[in-house]
Amino acid sequence: MKIPFAIIVAAALAGSIAHAQARPTPGQPVILVTGSTSGLGREVALRLAAGGAHVIVHGRDSARGAEVVREIEQAGKGSARFYAADFASLAQVRQFGATILKDYSRLDVLINNAGIGSVPADRQLTAEGAEIRMQVNYLSGVLLTRLLLPQLLASAPARIVNVSSLAASPVDFDDVMMAKNFSPLRAYGQSKLAQVMFTFDLAHELEGKGVTVNALHPATLMPTGMVAKAGYQPQATIDEGAKAVLQLVQAPDMGSGQYFIGLKAGRAHQQAYDAEARARLKRLSEDLTGIAHSTH
Ligand SMILES: NC(=O)c1ccc[n+]([C@@H]2O[C@H](COP(=O)([O-])OP(=O)(O)OC[C@H]3O[C@@H](n4cnc5c(N)ncnc54)[C@H](OP(=O)(O)O)[C@@H]3O)[C@@H](O)[C@H]2O)c1
Repeated sequence: MKIPFAIIVAAALAGSIAHAQARPTPGQPVILVTGSTSGLGREVALRLAAGGAHVIVHGRDSARGAEVVREIEQAGKGSARFYAADFASLAQVRQFGATILKDYSRLDVLINNAGIGSVPADRQLTAEGAEIRMQVNYLSGVLLTRLLLPQLLASAPARIVNVSSLAASPVDFDDVMMAKNFSPLRAYGQSKLAQVMFTFDLAHELEGKGVTVNALHPATLMPTGMVAKAGYQPQATIDEGAKAVLQLVQAPDMGSGQYFIGLKAGRAHQQAYDAEARARLKRLSEDLTGIAHSTH
């Protein structure tokens, strides 16, 4: 009997879809790495899968995402699935969070890594009207963390790692979205310091609950997409940055509420230690993301 071509195509597609939708096996750690379609996040995703984890790969570009998943599958250790969500849209972040909660029954580690640097060099606003770096690098990570926190708490011991940067600029509460005074580097620095302030607050809130949260500057000027786009000469390797992230994911006794510079605990910008500034940022973030801050 001759099998119709349409059935062969459908069967092949079904096979590839099933293949692309790998599920974690019982006991396999589940780790979400945002922005894992390139650069640091991609390397971290590959290494975590090589160690046996199920990695939730995230980015905007399905082709790049599928490539990371394929590489993980070909390596034959761990497993992965790709999800697309544009962090310049809070609606997409909400949808992404809801999908992860639906598709997974546990989450051991959340790595908030997705980000954009000093390019675009002009002031761009998101659909929600926020300066694009503030939203992609900070607000979307806060929203995703809040959405996934119940899952992390239910999976405790669990960890959150916020990939920040040494490039910190104090948050200007009179002009957070930089309508009056814009600079792409300062916009990047504000968003990166905001991540550290969020880390310190969240660590306090999660004390004794089995979920730790730390932030880090992975390495200075790694040869990644954002560094290439900005035209900077790389000074570090992606290996250095990946090791620093993996330490916070895997090493025992990393504590919580700390800021690391590479592999060592360091001191963040002074605004991160200003409780009033952190409280102000927290209220603003709740308003902008529309999410309640309390897990109690
Ligand atoms: N490179 C360095 O030297 C350095 C130093 C300090 C800190 N960092 C931090 O390291 C993290 C990773 O950056 P990288 O250097 O690896 O840069 P990268 O190669 O440009 O990677 C950025 C990742 O974020 C994703 N992303 C960008 N915009 C997004 C959006 N609107 N929605 C969803 N995902 C988005 C990208 O996905 P797409 O495939 O969709 O573009 C990509 O996967 C960032 O948080 C950065 O601030 C980097």
